[in-house]
Amino acid sequence: MEGTIPPRKIGNLEDYETACKEFAWASVDKEFSWSEGGVYNVAHEAIDRHASNWRRNKIALYSITANNEVRKYTFGEIAEISSKLASGLTKLGAEIGDRVFIYLDRTSELYISLIGVTKMGAMASPLFSALGPEAFKDRALDCGAKYVITSPYLYKRIEPVLDDLVDIEKIIIVGDNADLGDITVKFDDVVASGDSCFKTVSMQPSDPYVIHYTSGSTGKPKGVLHGHKAMIQQAYTAKMILDLNEDDTYWCTADPGWVTGTSYGVLAPWYLGVTIVSYEGRFDADVWYNLLEKYGITVWYTAPTALRMLMNAGDEIVEKYDLSRLRHICSVGEPLNAEVVKWGDRVLNHRIHDTWWQTETGAHMVCNYPCMPIKPGSMGKPIPGVTASVVDENGNEVPPKTEGYLAVRPGWPSMMLGIWRNTPKFKEYFRVPGWYISGDLAFKDEDGYFWFLGRSDDVIKTSGERVGPFEVESALIEHPAVAEAGVIGKPDALRGEIVKAFVMLRPGYEGSDELKKEITNFVKTRLAYYAYPREMEFVTTLPKTRSGKIMRRVLKAQELGQPVGDLSTLED
Ligand code: WT7
Repeated sequence: MEGTIPPRKIGNLEDYETACKEFAWASVDKEFSWSEGGVYNVAHEAIDRHASNWRRNKIALYSITANNEVRKYTFGEIAEISSKLASGLTKLGAEIGDRVFIYLDRTSELYISLIGVTKMGAMASPLFSALGPEAFKDRALDCGAKYVITSPYLYKRIEPVLDDLVDIEKIIIVGDNADLGDITVKFDDVVASGDSCFKTVSMQPSDPYVIHYTSGSTGKPKGVLHGHKAMIQQAYTAKMILDLNEDDTYWCTADPGWVTGTSYGVLAPWYLGVTIVSYEGRFDADVWYNLLEKYGITVWYTAPTALRMLMNAGDEIVEKYDLSRLRHICSVGEPLNAEVVKWGDRVLNHRIHDTWWQTETGAHMVCNYPCMPIKPGSMGKPIPGVTASVVDENGNEVPPKTEGYLAVRPGWPSMMLGIWRNTPKFKEYFRVPGWYISGDLAFKDEDGYFWFLGRSDDVIKTSGERVGPFEVESALIEHPAVAEAGVIGKPDALRGEIVKAFVMLRPGYEGSDELKKEITNFVKTRLAYYAYPREMEFVTTLPKTRSGKIMRRVLKAQELGQPVGDLSTLED
């Protein structure tokens, strides 16, 4: 299929350089209806606006279920159902600022709920349906969630922990077979009770609309808050980096339980009036290529692990599908190997564009601008309006080709507003004067391209998902057989990294494959399904500092057969 896709001119390098020079976020802000005194709310920008113009009858969403049923919604329909939901929630007692969990598989109700909750000024927190009951409980206790929108099977999963969650007022269940009790109501009934004339609540730019939980190297997951004004940067980058236009059909493979799935999966494309495709099912190379063909996807935003899985599925399979509508592919979440970029060139006939950002940054930061020549393996350059660099621990910029901390000058529009009830954690990002410190290590080359080197902390990235070793260790030691545990990320050709656990058993327990399986299953219920250790090793000691902290860096060096470095703090 080489050469069959006509190249589309999407600007040139000069455009990028001019944009960098002349850029002002204020001019982007002017494009929003709120700048004319309209409603300040991302749901209004993404949906309501279109419902009152010709896009009313344009398809906003193709939602494909795991059994391949297709549900279609126009912008007008999403507007109406989400308004009724917002109104129905208000009638149930929900108020501005309440935390509403959306704990659903990737179905149309998930998208509608995100818009509905946002319309009424509450804070949505979409949670991966892969989360286990204890992980759900931790998050609900952290932010005092009052409402939960979920499905019958997920409701069953969290039922055992509900007694501890006294803040929850109502659980709204999608589906007919909901068994209803004191606090449960049916989603359809809430929508039916609502008024489609509900007026979307006008918020302040720095009022949060979403909480995304993410992991660090210490403590439990933290709730990162993003405000309505984040859309300024999300919309700008959806246009300039993802190259989204009115006539595109777009597929973002990220789940809305992850910031990519809300910003670039729902809000920014809908702001631009783009038709989105969502797929509930699991990864399967044939299914994925078929979706690209069948829906004529033009812009595709995905992740390195998925691309590696497609690469492993073989080149021949690609020949079976007509991917000629595809125009632009972007990637995010973990390092995109040069090898994958070259495979994209050769087999997909597209240069895959890497984008670097984080839950905390809320939107793209360092990217391969569409018109930029790409160096395979590099993350690209800072987008216009963002000043990023590589610095030492005092905040001094280091020379090209020198390793340092990937840092950003604070003040970009989509920067997190804070971390729910955890100001100390928030402040840690700004410990170096004048900079936001991302937690990543990188270098810049002579041409200003950024190259990812690793994390400066112990955070693990497995299949693009962020996993905190501390959370996994905490879950492990709750098992009666486990005395102590140390957890690291082990390099893996497919998943980037896998979670590996070193486990010390309590006296009286014998290490066996069966016990490994049991402990693994135990961890799955506490955390998300992706966060369990794919490898476990029973050990008799763990390297610790004199103050008793497990030295993961030593475990990792031993695992990789590398020098263990400075051991002066190791206990005897
Ligand atoms: C971490 C952020 C990325 C938005 C979704 C939320 C790693 C992300 C890249 C990339 C190498 C990357 C970093 C970063 N990461 N993008 N293009 N190349 N590494 O992401 O869960 O908040 O994770 O993911 O380590 O700090 P997140």
